[in-house]
Amino acid sequence: RAQDIPVICLDGPTASGKGTLAAELAHRLGYHYLDSGALYRVTAFAALRAGLELDASNESAIAAMAQTLPVRFIGGRVLLDEFDVTDAIRSEEGGMNASKVSVLPAVRTALVALQHSFARLPGLVADGRDMGTVIFPDAPLKVYLTASAAQRAQRRHKQLISKGIPATIDILRADLEARDARDMNRATAPLKPAQDALLLDNSGQSVEESVAQVFEWWVARQAIGKS
Ligand code: DC
Repeated sequence: RAQDIPVICLDGPTASGKGTLAAELAHRLGYHYLDSGALYRVTAFAALRAGLELDASNESAIAAMAQTLPVRFIGGRVLLDEFDVTDAIRSEEGGMNASKVSVLPAVRTALVALQHSFARLPGLVADGRDMGTVIFPDAPLKVYLTASAAQRAQRRHKQLISKGIPATIDILRADLEARDARDMNRATAPLKPAQDALLLDNSGQSVEESVAQVFEWWVARQAIGKS
């Protein structure tokens, strides 16, 4: 039964370190990993490639594309049809475009079944904005990550510079605050902690410390489930 598959939800704002944490946790547990943001990023990419503007006037056309999205995740790469779009969708612009299509309710609905299909044994770590509130409401562990905008901008800046991509902290911070605002204030599935989410402020934490914390929560949850 779908309900018997263990799912760990990690939700939180842009650049809160969800992706790194989720991938590392999935690796340690031998679980599958759902990067739900990538689905919105690929949808936006496919829509733009088809010449569609990312606004409500194209909602049904974009939703139709999302419904049959030919996306595959292979060895850390994201493929759309046979094209490797990993780097293209990872850009700041790719994130902003994803945020734009993600406000359209029909697009969100079109991606539900695909997201559910990632829940397979032995388990799943899912990262996004609405994993705990909408997609996997029965998940036994939901974590909501937070970190200050200043911290997140700094992290993103370091990441980009290390990849040789020029960036300015102030602009990054303004962009991520704009994206947070859109994600938190949209009508459908806005970013917010699930009622039963545990809050994790990872501002002062290393990746290893965050992984260890969530791992500990997970072990504790399972002990309760088995008793
Ligand atoms: O996690 P990310 O930065 O790759 O997500 C990109 C955008 O996609 C994010 O700004 C909002 C949208 N998104 C969403 O609405 N719901 C999700 N579960 C994941 C992402």
